Amino acid sequence: MPATRTQLSQAYPIGSAIDADGRLQLGGCDAVELAREFGTPAYIVAEDDLRARAQTFVEAFRARTKDFDVLFASKAFPCTAIYRVLAEEGIACDVASGGELALALRGGFDPARIYLHGNAKSVDELRFARESGVGHIVIDNADEIERLEAVVGDGPAQPVLLRVTPGVRGETNDKISTGQADSKFGFSMVDAPAAIARVQDSPQLDLVGLHMHIGSQILELDPFRRAIEAIAPLGDFGTYNLGGGLGVAYTSAQEPPRIADYVAAKVDTVDRVLGPGKRILDEPGRALVANSTVTLYTVQSVKRNVSTWVAVDGGMSDNLRPMLYGSVYEAQIADRFGGGTRSRLTGKHCESGDVIVRDVELADPRVGDVIVTPATGAYGHAMANNYNGVPRPPVIMVAHGDARVVVRRETYDDLTARDVD
Ligand code: LLP
Repeated sequence: MPATRTQLSQAYPIGSAIDADGRLQLGGCDAVELAREFGTPAYIVAEDDLRARAQTFVEAFRARTKDFDVLFASKAFPCTAIYRVLAEEGIACDVASGGELALALRGGFDPARIYLHGNAKSVDELRFARESGVGHIVIDNADEIERLEAVVGDGPAQPVLLRVTPGVRGETNDKISTGQADSKFGFSMVDAPAAIARVQDSPQLDLVGLHMHIGSQILELDPFRRAIEAIAPLGDFGTYNLGGGLGVAYTSAQEPPRIADYVAAKVDTVDRVLGPGKRILDEPGRALVANSTVTLYTVQSVKRNVSTWVAVDGGMSDNLRPMLYGSVYEAQIADRFGGGTRSRLTGKHCESGDVIVRDVELADPRVGDVIVTPATGAYGHAMANNYNGVPRPPVIMVAHGDARVVVRRETYDDLTARDVD
């Protein structure tokens, strides 16, 4: 078999391979066998990949600083088994709602190492965080300061961080850019000084430091450096949470910075600009989980129109990202890697925009073929939905030749489970 056909792009989970028969292996399991056993569509998570990336983050920080914590931005893959694996790897956790907090607790995270985010936290969510013993709450706006003070009341002061928007943006889709001056997130550089003073004066709140997050899927390091430089005038704090945002490879053409280089850029800039000895927190979501997972589909129809439309049994209900952000994915036939047929890989939903990959080379696609799209671990399961009454896919974890269902496929009964009449 020619070498080009056995070469897997870096979008696939670490440890994936194409065997001598040209079949994709994930965590030691045959992808087509997985599709047969568990049905499609299905998210397949390579556990070793998850663990390896978590360890890479932790080791990269440990090599550069003593005082740090790596937080899993759990919005990227809010699934109990994923929380559990990352908790086992010693990672801390960022939650963006009461629901994510409930999931993180269920997944085994120590509440003291959970950080609650959100630009519109309700009193109920703040109370839930307090009752659970959440370590830090990240204050986003002035209204929340008063709301949280009221929730704390006469109780012990709540450690908080204050979220600021540094006025720096990375090159990414507008919908996932957050660091620009006019953002719905955090205090602007103009409003931040008064908010800092206000929180420092509060008996109910204990301001330990600042937080920022400039955006997501950022493929260069300079915006991260500039953001740290931008917040320096706000004062000297013990802790800086630098957010997440490191981009990943969705296709072989994308070359994200290495985790170690991203960590080095952030830590070195903090040391240089904010001073040595700071506690540094980082919040990767996508870079921890995206490449751990692939989605398997089965081809239902091949329509030769002006384009060749290869329609599969999932689509925008299991991966909203192509539609929402124009995100580009790769695809292959799981036991026949290669090309030859320029195809439009499309979903089963009742919208023309439900296209998973606009232009993809497949090797003579046929009905029944198992299609694989790599790099679906971040914001895939997280943003899955039931459009057209399509049940959401299962999550299957694979490692060392074993596969186990960690989230079962939704059933038609699940679709009516909340009906009360
Ligand atoms: N910290 C905060 C406060 C965040 O808002 C986010 C992501 C992260 C950390 C993690 O960012 P990451 O390392 O994953 O880039 N649904 C979109 C992504 C939205 C990101 C929202 N915030 C997508 O599918 O691309």
